[in-house]
Amino acid sequence: MPFYEPGLAELVAEGIAEGRLSFHGSNLEATFESTVVVLAVPTPPGADGSADTGIVEAVAAELAPALGAGAVLVLKSTVPVGTSDRVTAILRDAGSPAVVVSNPEFLAEGTAVEDFFHPSRIVIGTDDEEAAKTMLRLYVHLDAPTLVTDPRSAELVKYGANAHLAMRVSFANEIAALCEAVGADAHQVLLGIGQDPRIGGTYLRPGPGFGGSCLPKDTRALLATAADHGQPLTMVQAAVAVNGDQHRRMLRRIRHAAGGRLADARIAFWGLSFKAGSDDIRESPALALAEAVLDAGGEVTAYDPKAMPVTDHIRRVAHPMEAVKGADVLVVATAWPEFAEADFTEVHDAMRGTTILDLRNTLHPNTIQTAGLTYQGIGKPQR
Ligand code: UGA
Repeated sequence: MPFYEPGLAELVAEGIAEGRLSFHGSNLEATFESTVVVLAVPTPPGADGSADTGIVEAVAAELAPALGAGAVLVLKSTVPVGTSDRVTAILRDAGSPAVVVSNPEFLAEGTAVEDFFHPSRIVIGTDDEEAAKTMLRLYVHLDAPTLVTDPRSAELVKYGANAHLAMRVSFANEIAALCEAVGADAHQVLLGIGQDPRIGGTYLRPGPGFGGSCLPKDTRALLATAADHGQPLTMVQAAVAVNGDQHRRMLRRIRHAAGGRLADARIAFWGLSFKAGSDDIRESPALALAEAVLDAGGEVTAYDPKAMPVTDHIRRVAHPMEAVKGADVLVVATAWPEFAEADFTEVHDAMRGTTILDLRNTLHPNTIQTAGLTYQGIGKPQR
């Protein structure tokens, strides 16, 4: 696998061994005689934040000769509203009668295989009854609520869902900041809020802000669509702004933990990926903070069980204890479960300072205090 995703390597190996999965060097060759062709190509952000559908459109044009009557071209990539219609026009111009269906995915990194087999819902966007039936047959073995709707609505479900998740994370981060200000415990507060079944407890974990290849990019792309249509999405705008504030707030916390100065401070980072269970560092809050510490003149030594940063400034080490050697502050920036299991007496002996700043509230404060270290979490009363 070119990236780490639990269970994926085994699944791919199984597909190849059973002769159900094959790879081809040419898009056309892979498409030939297929009924369902899934486009899952990147839609990178353009200069204004909007999603660039250039690759989707180019591949659709390339495949058109192989897409005959009855074929369905599935748009799995996250594409702005109206892309299905544009791709349909591209196929028609090239003489293909195939139907374009919007079928957004809701997989999260780190749990993608599990999410695929147990989806929260299946969304199928098409006005063509036969194409809808083909798609329903494709997913017949998956047990999930199904929404068959028009292509534009399906496209917007994807962006709306990610925007809502982003708003929840930003809400949790603001509540956590308020908890610190008033002396409340964000864990308890958000637990109590989430116990209301109308609200639910997920996506309310405070942290260093939402990152990854989806929430930041998709909220920006949705804002670009909203602006294009003169229909501002003020709440989504606020979620994005709060996320930027959260980065600055976390940097202030690191500086404070280092005694008010980052220049020449030695900061150890545990975690660089944008979340646990993934080696992805795209828009990773952990990596952004490590780089900000470097920019402020600090030294960073980092450990992550999977992520390999491409930057040469960050010294990445192969063991968590090596990262904390001589460190003034240990910042836990990604919630890998192994961090909570570390030997904190050993950490105490290896560090120069005594502060652990747990940006994910993933450690056990008592264990850390017993080891003679000072624990600081997010949204906890400040001592
Ligand atoms: C997200 C969505 O969860 C998926 O449903 C969607 O399919 C995917 O984007 C996509 O568009 O492809 P993903 O980017 O893998 O999935 O990451 P999430 O698990 O949603 O986490 C996003 C960010 O929010 C991470 O940085 C995470 O640490 C942060 N987060 C999440 C919090 O800070 N607190 C929370 O309570 C939850």
